Amino acid sequence: MAIETAPVVPPAPDRIGANADGPHPGDVIVTDNLWKTYEMGDQQVHALRGVDIRIRHNEYVAIMGPSGSGKSTLMNLIGCLDSPSQGKYWLNGHDVSQLNDDELARIRNKEIGFVFQTFNLLARATSLHNVELPLIYNGTPVAERIARAKEVLTSVNLGERMMHKPNELSGGQRQRVAIARALVNRPSIILADEPTGNLDSKTSVEIMALFDDLHAKGNTIVLVTHEPDIAEFAHRIISIRDGSVATDSLSTKGKKAAAGLPAKETSPKAENPSASAANSSTPAKEAMPNTSEKKTEPGKNAKKA
Ligand SMILES: Nc1ncnc2c1ncn2[C@@H]1O[C@H](COP(=O)(O)OP(=O)(O)OP(=O)(O)O)[C@@H](O)[C@H]1O
Ligand SMILES: [Mg+2]
Repeated sequence: MAIETAPVVPPAPDRIGANADGPHPGDVIVTDNLWKTYEMGDQQVHALRGVDIRIRHNEYVAIMGPSGSGKSTLMNLIGCLDSPSQGKYWLNGHDVSQLNDDELARIRNKEIGFVFQTFNLLARATSLHNVELPLIYNGTPVAERIARAKEVLTSVNLGERMMHKPNELSGGQRQRVAIARALVNRPSIILADEPTGNLDSKTSVEIMALFDDLHAKGNTIVLVTHEPDIAEFAHRIISIRDGSVATDSLSTKGKKAAAGLPAKETSPKAENPSASAANSSTPAKEAMPNTSEKKTEPGKNAKKA
């Protein structure tokens, strides 16, 4: 796997990351020198090696990269499902890198909606019950819980499928239940790890239309994908290689799911930051992250054009 064959750079506590100054107004996700090292017996796997990213409110970001490059590890940290081995993470202006599991769970429930490739639904529960679950965890009264679950299921066009269990639904419908579950706490940040990885291309477009809609309503969206066609819906693409950010570019306009999945290369990309990105008229322009000061480690390119 790529991550294990890469040169091992020992964690550098004194490294000054590009985002050492922490969050600026409007930033929702800021990481500085983020490391994640898994211990496997006497082996260490450095899944993330000093990631500095800055994502602003209402950005729509795709994270790409080879298998094993650290995308899911990064998403799990951003989504407060796990803690970094080293480095800082500010979510909505708060340093969450040192929080314990209970505190992380509380923040996650409030701020973040997470969508997984494999849907992660309770097999024996109806759509309605699956969507209610986050509200049960945070103690929402039953009547309100049911009303909100119904409302959000209706918003993803599953009003007719509330009493179906996952095995009575298509893949796209299951993913829509999972998205409804991610939305029921009205999070401002939607994180999705390969949300279309198990779907055919037509169904993928339906799911991307939901993300388009959420983005238009003001949510911040970060999704991992292997598929360039899917990444083109985003306004910014960050590629990860061997646990570090390799490239970070703005798309001058995100593809619209409503238009279907056209042939590739519909959205010209500009290196970020660059003159053309700065001249872009899309929302991503305002969300220009400070990626110009990306770290460079020995043996690595911080940027590959
Ligand atoms: N819990 C774990 N324990 C040990 N090593 C892990 C663990 N989770 C991930 N890894 C290792 O960390 C590296 C990054 O894994 P990660 O799942 O983040 O990759 P990925 O980019 O999401 O890959 P894919 O595209 O295949 O989903 C890999 O080398 C993987 O083997
Ligand atoms: Mg993954």
